[in-house]
Amino acid sequence: MTFPLPASAARALARDARIRTYRGPQPIPRNVLLAEVERADGLLCLLTERVDAALFAHAPRLRAVANYAVGYNNIDLAAAAAHDVVVTNTPDVLTETTADLAFALMMAAARRLGEGERLVRAGRWHGWEPDQLLGHDVHGATLGIVGLGRIGAAVARRARGFDMRVLYWNRRRLRRPPAGARYAPLPALLAAADFVSIHVPLAAETRHLIGPRELARMKRTAVLVNTSRGPVVDEMALTRALARRRIAAAGLDVFEHEPRVPPTLRRLPNVVLAPHIGSATTATRTAMAELSVTNLVAGLTGREPPNRVRLSAASGRA
Ligand code: DGY
Repeated sequence: MTFPLPASAARALARDARIRTYRGPQPIPRNVLLAEVERADGLLCLLTERVDAALFAHAPRLRAVANYAVGYNNIDLAAAAAHDVVVTNTPDVLTETTADLAFALMMAAARRLGEGERLVRAGRWHGWEPDQLLGHDVHGATLGIVGLGRIGAAVARRARGFDMRVLYWNRRRLRRPPAGARYAPLPALLAAADFVSIHVPLAAETRHLIGPRELARMKRTAVLVNTSRGPVVDEMALTRALARRRIAAAGLDVFEHEPRVPPTLRRLPNVVLAPHIGSATTATRTAMAELSVTNLVAGLTGREPPNRVRLSAASGRA
């Protein structure tokens, strides 16, 4: 394990396996990981670990990799298949929690909560003013969901409670989208939406899906929210668009080169920044740990794991 699991989940694993746990500062250094996998039958790892062909070449005994995340862009599925290694992830258990955070970022960015918080904390608030920190209404606005998978659909459900009009774009149009969600081609969605929330997984075809051209299509009053993976958005282009007020604001939980967040982005007042905490509640992280263990034990004992990721599903939905 590349990190210490909560005790309950670790106990369940200890019944079936001898465990070695990395307990140093996160993430595990690459050289330590490569040395450790040499003797490992199973690996329980984080999205910060690169599980690639070089790692598999160092791991002759490895049979199962359980990723403690729904996203698995850190794992080379083709290399895993070539080495006959089962790969699993943790879908479903984090869907609602991540959708909560997407909604929180949407509201925080639209209502300028970060700016307000900084003002009060700095002791620079001098009282109620009619035009102080005017933002944008969330209720009644149009929400564009880019990637209507599990988490996108959970965001769409929340939007209904705010009387929002919901548009979605997927590479494949859904036969039965959630109630009230209407399909729109990506350019049309970007032009019509007051809020754009990103929920596609990171794959070759979604890297920089939102770049200068896409940002230019958005309304000047629009808010962009990203809780999927940083590289889906061209971060430099977004920084420029926010600085020039080409769009009004953004709420970001993920970044192109985590944990590095460029100073130019950090200096902008109109972006709310969170440190990749989409699934970070005690209940959800515990559920993710338990699911990872179930997956790993199944993979190691030759049973079908509940959440096997197949090579053909590599561009699937989160
Ligand atoms: C995931 O699961 O992919 C998130 O980014 C972390 O919970």
